[in-house]
Amino acid sequence: METVANAVHLPALDNPNERDAVGAELQTVLQDLIDLSLIGKQLHWSVVGPESHSLHLFLDELVGEWRELADLVAERAVTLGFVPDGQSVAVADGSRVEPVPVRSVAGHAVIWELARRVAGSAERVRERLTPIGAADLVTQDVLVDVVRTLEKQQWLLRSQFGEKV
Ligand SMILES: [Fe+2]
Repeated sequence: METVANAVHLPALDNPNERDAVGAELQTVLQDLIDLSLIGKQLHWSVVGPESHSLHLFLDELVGEWRELADLVAERAVTLGFVPDGQSVAVADGSRVEPVPVRSVAGHAVIWELARRVAGSAERVRERLTPIGAADLVTQDVLVDVVRTLEKQQWLLRSQFGEKV
């Protein structure tokens, strides 16, 4: 993976040997966040049914949050001297988020499809928090922000099923 040429001004990690590994972790999270934002837009366009207008608007809020998180994650990678790849080919190759069907989707199905993808993404990042913290606490802090936002979205999606919170 390409690194920034001048390493002199790079932040000192708790474990500098892990710089590329931390960058690779951030790259993986970036791919998933960009993919979530693309899937969110897809559902923003394909949602149908009585709740379609409110879901249409809600989906754009979520897309905005995923894009902001993707930016945060990518900029942490660059700060560490790791050049992230947020292009479509990289996302298609590396995302762990399952695509959604390309057809009209009823509101309740949109919520279900999103809820399980957001939950899966949150779980995958949460699982990596401890090892990443051992290498770099600042990156861990960035990923804690990611998990906090995804888990809040999980709650907002779950609440639309009328489940007890
Ligand atoms: Fe729109």
